[in-house]
Amino acid sequence: MSPDRVKKLLMITIPVLVLVLAAGIFFFNRNNELVLEGPQGEIAANETSSSEWAKFYPAHWDSYQANYANTEKTSHFDTKPYLTAIYAGFGFSKEYNEPRAHVYTIEDILAIDPARKKAGASCFTCKSTQVPEMMQKYGEKYYLMSFDEMKGQITEPIGCLDCHDPKTMELRLTRPALVEALQRQGKDIENISQQEMRSLVCAQCHVTYYFYPETKKITFPWDKGVKADQILAYYDEKDFAEWVHPDSGAGLVKPRHAEYETFINSTHQSAGLACADCHMPYTKVGNKKISSHVWQSPLNNIEQSCTTCHRNGTDWLINRVETIQSQVKQTQDLAGEAVVEAINELKISQAAADVDQAKLKEARELHRQAQWYLDFVVVTNGYGFHNPTETLNNLGRAIDIAHKSAKIAREARGLK
Ligand code: HEC
Ligand code: HEC
Ligand code: HEC
Ligand code: HEC
Repeated sequence: MSPDRVKKLLMITIPVLVLVLAAGIFFFNRNNELVLEGPQGEIAANETSSSEWAKFYPAHWDSYQANYANTEKTSHFDTKPYLTAIYAGFGFSKEYNEPRAHVYTIEDILAIDPARKKAGASCFTCKSTQVPEMMQKYGEKYYLMSFDEMKGQITEPIGCLDCHDPKTMELRLTRPALVEALQRQGKDIENISQQEMRSLVCAQCHVTYYFYPETKKITFPWDKGVKADQILAYYDEKDFAEWVHPDSGAGLVKPRHAEYETFINSTHQSAGLACADCHMPYTKVGNKKISSHVWQSPLNNIEQSCTTCHRNGTDWLINRVETIQSQVKQTQDLAGEAVVEAINELKISQAAADVDQAKLKEARELHRQAQWYLDFVVVTNGYGFHNPTETLNNLGRAIDIAHKSAKIAREARGLK
């Protein structure tokens, strides 16, 4: 062949080869990333029983069932003994367990210490697919009902209906408190990106909240922003306290599992990740790939959760997570001691005969702040991994403010 013909032949064959290769890669990937798209069958609009959904989504059902293997139930008090002192006078001081799998919510809530039932029917809000139905049935009265009034009516744990529209299988938000909080922030609820939804479905429950005075309605305190200082400013403006600490006399507020708030503006969130990227990674079931429906520590399946992006290997990753978490734990213990010291000083001062009331008031106010920043970290699952710098910053504030509180409490009774 003449060089000219070779050139011509190549000019034809190369593009054809490239096309064939591209099509091959495209179909290979498509096949490999095969996930069920769209609805596979008719599910009733209010189907609260996940086992009914299972008929059409057996692979997802199997994945969901695997949550039962996660039986571990541990108390926060085992690793953080100072908590009983800081929660004195409040239900949380009686019992406070670490979370476990979604499927155990009903079992766990029914076994809870009676001291924790005061919050009433609202306790069930993050525990069952039947909650939106109950809210519809009872309207605003739902929030005022007692724990025992609701108890017998709720049997289903967290399930498909909490996150999916049964007709389209799209992700959707079923909890009014989140939708209302987003609306107050001016967010266009109808135009939320899919990637945001992959975090927001979790933000229905993995957030801090409070019971609005009088109506007892579950409300997210996000109007000034979702960060610890912004939420505290929101409560301060409302002059809101959940309880008064018996030893210090300070009016306190209690954060709850603020995973979503902590994740916002973290390295991973600003890099575009969502909760589901680490906690619901693609996983192979037979010849299919589905989003894992086992909600667990991503360290249990690190190859799926992390090494898709991080090529440094699992040992490196585990080491990074452990380093972050042990540093957070160490600083958290320091903050715990500092807050307990403030409480102890306040206890002596408020019992003293001759006290400077202005200083006592100031020291109590500082106790409120210090405990808030500490507790915001304590109750947020993941031991700081979701946002290491911010977590340590909050603990730094807690330590500083608690020392000031203790100092001013001592000054209130004339000590230097
Ligand atoms: C309807 C409320 C609700 C929704 C929605 C929800 N969770 Fe949970 N989640 C909970 C509760 C409540 C627990 C604690 C259960 C217990 O201890 O009985 C929990 C526990 C967990 C745990 C801990 C399991 C363990 O082994 O300790 C992880 C991880 C988790 N959820 C991740 C997620 C992710 C990720 C999403 C979003 C894709 C999500 N959750 C959506 C309420 C919810
Ligand atoms: C806590 C929220 C949550 C619950 C509960 C939940 N899912 Fe999902 N599901 C998700 C998320 C997040 C995705 C990923 C969606 C995406 O990326 O578009 C998903 C994806 C899916 C998909 C699409 C294919 C895939 O694997 O990505 C199906 C089908 C599905 N889920 C079925 C179910 C069934 C059946 C149940 C009940 C047994 C269930 N889900 C419970 C959050 C949930
Ligand atoms: C970059 C990956 C990543 C993202 C994104 C992420 N997490 Fe996590 N999450 C982790 C790691 C790592 C842990 C620590 C697990 C451990 O200590 O075993 C964790 C722990 C948790 C736990 C406690 C589970 C346990 O077994 O202790 C919960 C609950 C949780 N995350 C919820 C969320 C929610 C809700 C979001 C989104 C707002 C989210 N996570 C986003 C990686 C992630
Ligand atoms: C979708 C991609 C993606 C996944 C999945 C992911 N990461 Fe990352 N991670 C990033 C990006 C992007 C950064 C920012 C730094 C960079 O560009 O490497 C980062 C940063 C980090 C850092 C350093 C920053 C910090 O906040 O300390 C650690 C540690 C880390 N990731 C651990 C993990 C672990 C553990 C998991 C699994 C639980 C995980 N990542 C899952 C993309 C990802």
